[in-house]
Amino acid sequence: MQTLHAVSEVRAAVREWRFGGKRIAFVPTMGNLHPGHLRLVAEAKKIADRVVVSIFVNPTQFGPGEDYESYPRTEDEDRNKLNEAEADLLFLPPAAEIYAPDAKTRVTVAGLSQRYCGAFRPGHFDGVATVVCKLFNIVQPDCAFFGQKDFQQLTLIRTMVRDLNIPVDIVPVETVREADGLAMSSRNGYLNHEERHIAPRLYRALCDAKDAVLAGRDYAEIERQAQAFLRESGFDTDYFAICRRSDLEKAGKDDLELVLLAAARLGKTRLIDNVRFDR
Ligand code: PAF
Repeated sequence: MQTLHAVSEVRAAVREWRFGGKRIAFVPTMGNLHPGHLRLVAEAKKIADRVVVSIFVNPTQFGPGEDYESYPRTEDEDRNKLNEAEADLLFLPPAAEIYAPDAKTRVTVAGLSQRYCGAFRPGHFDGVATVVCKLFNIVQPDCAFFGQKDFQQLTLIRTMVRDLNIPVDIVPVETVREADGLAMSSRNGYLNHEERHIAPRLYRALCDAKDAVLAGRDYAEIERQAQAFLRESGFDTDYFAICRRSDLEKAGKDDLELVLLAAARLGKTRLIDNVRFDR
């Protein structure tokens, strides 16, 4: 696997592959790779001839007081994992390579950017949409792989790609979980021993709520009960919502394709998760 730091180098490598008729997949990450990321690479390898992975802790998607400075940077371990996973190219740009100091353009997916996680992390999704749009323009892949754990992010990127006619197929990949159900995340490392024990209850609340939806119970009541269960478990819940899967609007009784979205804080760690199902 080659590691490149400059936009021009990545463009040249990809141009050569494309000239040779290769199909190119892209896996954008912020590093601190875990099995969830490696599954993205494994899925990418199934349908592409070359896999490009980026590691870039994107400053514009962190708000004031968030964990940009302390976000785990584990480049050497990440490089070893990507070598083992047989990725072809690691793009590891410095921030100056991605953002001009006087950059004036940002991408906003109206509405979707402001709800759920967006309401609690103002500006976060503009940072995500902008950097993903830029990375797509740099790598110019045929397809790009995103984990379903960040379901709002996945929906936002699909919407951006549709609205801006970006010629990249977005491929969703199933969430990878620990044996006790906790969704794998780079931020799980922030949990202390006691919090790590409690953390799988977020997924349990989602699974219980799914059963309650399928049993025909009232949605507002299900959301209230889930929040009470999380509060009693020690979480501070940002939101717990029963949504339509296509656009993340609040689901009504006529909607059949659903996603339950949740975000809750345990101590200083913010966890997000979701379950998707058809009624
Ligand atoms: O999901 C992430 O790791 C990031 O939000 C992404 C998509 C790499 C953009 O910085």
